[in-house]
Amino acid sequence: MQPYHEFLDEVLIPEDVLQKRIAELGAEISKDYQGQDLHLICILKGGVMFLTDLMRRISVPHTIDFMAISSYGVGSRRSSGQIRLNMDLHEDIQGRNVILVEDIIDSGNTLSSVFGLLRTRNPASLKVCTLLDKVERREVEVDVDYVGFEIANKYVFGYGLDMDQYYRKLPFIGVVDLENYIPPE
Ligand code: PRP
Repeated sequence: MQPYHEFLDEVLIPEDVLQKRIAELGAEISKDYQGQDLHLICILKGGVMFLTDLMRRISVPHTIDFMAISSYGVGSRRSSGQIRLNMDLHEDIQGRNVILVEDIIDSGNTLSSVFGLLRTRNPASLKVCTLLDKVERREVEVDVDYVGFEIANKYVFGYGLDMDQYYRKLPFIGVVDLENYIPPE
């Protein structure tokens, strides 16, 4: 496996800055959901690091569930107009206050599809919390309630975001230098 520093163009968001912002988001969510039932839904796999850090910063009692989605298409590594539901939720969300937790919103296609699907299941409320938001890449309009960082259109990895499924464990968000990246065999 290629060491990440060989293709790391720059550290876009260092670990301490990420964690500070996640603490702020957790505090904001805790305030907004004081005295209410809260159910966090993590969209796998990219959102998993964010979810586990975020939930430790949320002081109100809450439950979690997971769903797995993949986006696919031609000529794009990470975005397309099509999504596939690889794993559905384990619990019913009817009447619950739900926050969807995502690592990144790019075109908005994934979120838009998931949002549409979950709406049909009649949650009491449905909000979105994303760590990263590439606003300039948006193809479909989506309402985002909690945003960690708005970022420019750069290819990013780390902290849940992968390069060919690897490097998700890195504690920071880095920018990829694609010219120097060697995909695993
Ligand atoms: C990423 C990310 C979002 C989606 C955003 O998932 O986690 O779910 O892409 O892109 P969009 O706004 O253009 O739809 P990906 O399909 O890479 O899967 P992963 O989370 O398993 O890495």
